[in-house]
Amino acid sequence: MHLPSSAAFLLCTICAIVNLRTSSASPIRLSKRADVAASYDFIIVGGGAAGLALGARLSESFNQTVLVLEAGPFPEIVASYITPGAGQQVLGSLLDWAFVTPAQESLDNRTITYRRGRGVGGSTVINGLTYGRGSASIYDLWESLGNAGWSWSDVFPFFQKSTSFIPVEVSAYQTYDESAYSPSGPISLSFPTYVSPASTAFIEALGAVGVPTVNELNLGDNVGAKQEPLTLDARQQRSSAYDGYYKPVRNRPNLTVLPLATVRQVITEMRNLSLTATGVVFADQTSGSTMNVTARKEVILSAGTFQTPQLLMLSGIGPQETLQKFGISQSLVNENVGRHMQDHLYFSVIARSQPEASSSQVYNRIDLLQDAESEYAANRSGPLTTPIGATYGFQRVPEANLQALAADELLDGRQNQAHSNSIQDAPIINLNYLEAETDQKLALYAFRNLRTILSQPGLANYTIGPANGEVVPGPDITDDETILAYIKSTLLPVWHVVGTCRMLPQAQGGVVDSRLRVHGVKGLRIVDASVMPVIPDQHTQGVVFMIAEKAAQMIKEDYGL
Ligand SMILES: Cc1cc2nc3c(=O)[nH]c(=O)nc-3n(C[C@H](O)[C@H](O)[C@H](O)COP(=O)(O)OP(=O)(O)OC[C@H]3O[C@@H](n4cnc5c(N)ncnc54)[C@H](O)[C@@H]3O)c2cc1C
Ligand SMILES: *[C@@H]1O[C@H](CO)[C@@H](O)[C@H](O)[C@H]1NC(C)=O
Ligand SMILES: *[C@@H]1O[C@H](CO)[C@@H](O)[C@H](O)[C@H]1NC(C)=O
Ligand SMILES: *[C@@H]1O[C@H](CO)[C@@H](O)[C@H](O)[C@H]1NC(C)=O
Ligand SMILES: *[C@@H]1O[C@H](CO)[C@@H](O)[C@H](O)[C@H]1NC(C)=O
Ligand SMILES: *[C@@H]1O[C@H](CO)[C@@H](O)[C@H](O)[C@H]1NC(C)=O
Ligand SMILES: *[C@@H]1O[C@H](CO)[C@@H](O)[C@H](O)[C@H]1NC(C)=O
Ligand SMILES: *[C@@H]1O[C@H](CO)[C@@H](O)[C@H](O)[C@H]1NC(C)=O
Repeated sequence: MHLPSSAAFLLCTICAIVNLRTSSASPIRLSKRADVAASYDFIIVGGGAAGLALGARLSESFNQTVLVLEAGPFPEIVASYITPGAGQQVLGSLLDWAFVTPAQESLDNRTITYRRGRGVGGSTVINGLTYGRGSASIYDLWESLGNAGWSWSDVFPFFQKSTSFIPVEVSAYQTYDESAYSPSGPISLSFPTYVSPASTAFIEALGAVGVPTVNELNLGDNVGAKQEPLTLDARQQRSSAYDGYYKPVRNRPNLTVLPLATVRQVITEMRNLSLTATGVVFADQTSGSTMNVTARKEVILSAGTFQTPQLLMLSGIGPQETLQKFGISQSLVNENVGRHMQDHLYFSVIARSQPEASSSQVYNRIDLLQDAESEYAANRSGPLTTPIGATYGFQRVPEANLQALAADELLDGRQNQAHSNSIQDAPIINLNYLEAETDQKLALYAFRNLRTILSQPGLANYTIGPANGEVVPGPDITDDETILAYIKSTLLPVWHVVGTCRMLPQAQGGVVDSRLRVHGVKGLRIVDASVMPVIPDQHTQGVVFMIAEKAAQMIKEDYGL
């Protein structure tokens, strides 16, 4: 009784499969992706800030074919990624890896969700849009550590080349100097057309802790306060790496950007006694097949500060103990892979404010949020033209204070690691914020400055209640120990993580040389935030675009393109 009917059922299933195979409209692919060739001149792993900038520049050269493999989808899958004020909707969406750290002992054993972009555009489709470069002295330091060609005067042209500026002046301090940018830079910078009154007062109040108001921060002097530019286009929409570097060149026949393609490892072999990268293996999520592609010239890792070292380790390049622990066969030991991580972090002094002082109400009241969404959709104006917090001041801590804080102490213990022997597992991220006493002292110093700033008349004008409106942690919290406990229990990353594959001589803790070639491996470069030897005193996306522009020029030089 049962046998015939299940045979019939089986037959139907086979028919269905045959139909699927012959129907050209079928979304199910039973074979490998037709749009992937067996080899390319350059294979770029990760289509984020660096990967897309590099892909655009390398495919400018006649006859060079470039493949960019990106684990995530195209960003339109979350349409509001273009809306500067929609951070709440984009974080935690399909475009966010949302890594979770193990319990962090230095932060009261809290686990921290670490945001990272996952999609074509990488973290630039989910980030806070703020654009900066930092102090000239940072890049001069990079050079003096053993990186010829990376001084401020060397890197400045690449900062310029990557950016253009659209002036908007609806409010004070929306100033800029056009010599810092170029007319045709792919990443468009501008100011939002909505500015909260408290942010203007904040700039003025910063004077109380010695932060002057300045006209421009992007010419190498990074001390001062102003409205910082945002990565915004002429329509007040996000100008991400996807929008600025990829969309204009997406029809180039020699550039292929493949979404939903997760690279599992770099393929290496011994050629003429040198370990040489020859291609990559990637998981094609649309077909479920695992494919190998060959790089005729180079493999370039642009998977970001967490996943670039993870991929190196999964490819047998990394600390000996880690490779052994996870049973990964060892190609090259370099103890620095995944170590030396650096980041910025934030914590707050929170005050009750007049309703009109800032846009925070918009995020707490559904009716106001929906009004703001309608206004942005219809007219590209209103509070959603700005992310929360677009106003910054950068303070020079006086030399005497720095000495008192022992801030010249070097911080070294941080690391992330390959977890198991598969890219399917998230990297282990140990932030170790505030573990070092120097970091704790700096945090206390900054906290007390925040209270001084809050008490200035311009800002106090917008607060309600005693103690300049302070509600968290509250005016009775005054001694070092309780302030520090508050900071540890509330601080968050600013998502600027760098430094896990530093550009430094290997003996000084480096993973790549000053032309971004991986020490000891031929045909393999790293171009992303992980190569920064010292974190700049600014937001990081602009620095990554600069690094990619400079890398593109170096690669073209190396191959005579
Ligand atoms: C929430 C948030 C807010 C931020 N705010 C700001 C800000 O306001 N201003 C600022 O300047 N900077 C900001 N940043 C930081 C800035 O966006 C990053 O420094 C910058 O994007 C790093 O560039 P990247 O190329 O190194 O990595 P990403 O841009 O992160 O790109 C890496 C890409 O590699 C892909 N990838 C990873 N592993 C693999 C794999 N195995 N195979 C294929 N693809 C892979 C990822 O999916 C990702 O798309 C923020 C970041 C976040 C997450
Ligand atoms: C371009 O590449 C093709 C195939 O590799 C080659 O035949 C041709 O000579 C190249 N042309 C130029 C201008 O380099
Ligand atoms: C590669 O793209 C560049 C820029 O669009 C173009 O000039 C060149 O002709 C392309 N080369 C090939 C071989 O398609
Ligand atoms: C954090 O966890 C460790 C290990 O479980 C424990 O020894 C320590 O006391 C905890 N610290 C705090 C602040 O809870
Ligand atoms: C793909 O590369 C991996 C890693 O080098 C190798 O083990 C495998 O045999 C390759 N597969 C093919 C089909 O070449
Ligand atoms: C090995 O080196 C020789 C001489 O430099 C070169 O001609 C040859 O192409 C190299 N072989 C490989 C596989 O790179
Ligand atoms: C539309 O935007 C313009 C320019 O920002 C602004 O002046 C105007 O008030 C806005 N109109 C509405 C109805 O929001
Ligand atoms: C406080 O606000 C009032 C009204 O907006 C304004 O006139 C005054 O100048 C402000 N005071 C300061 C110190 O900014």
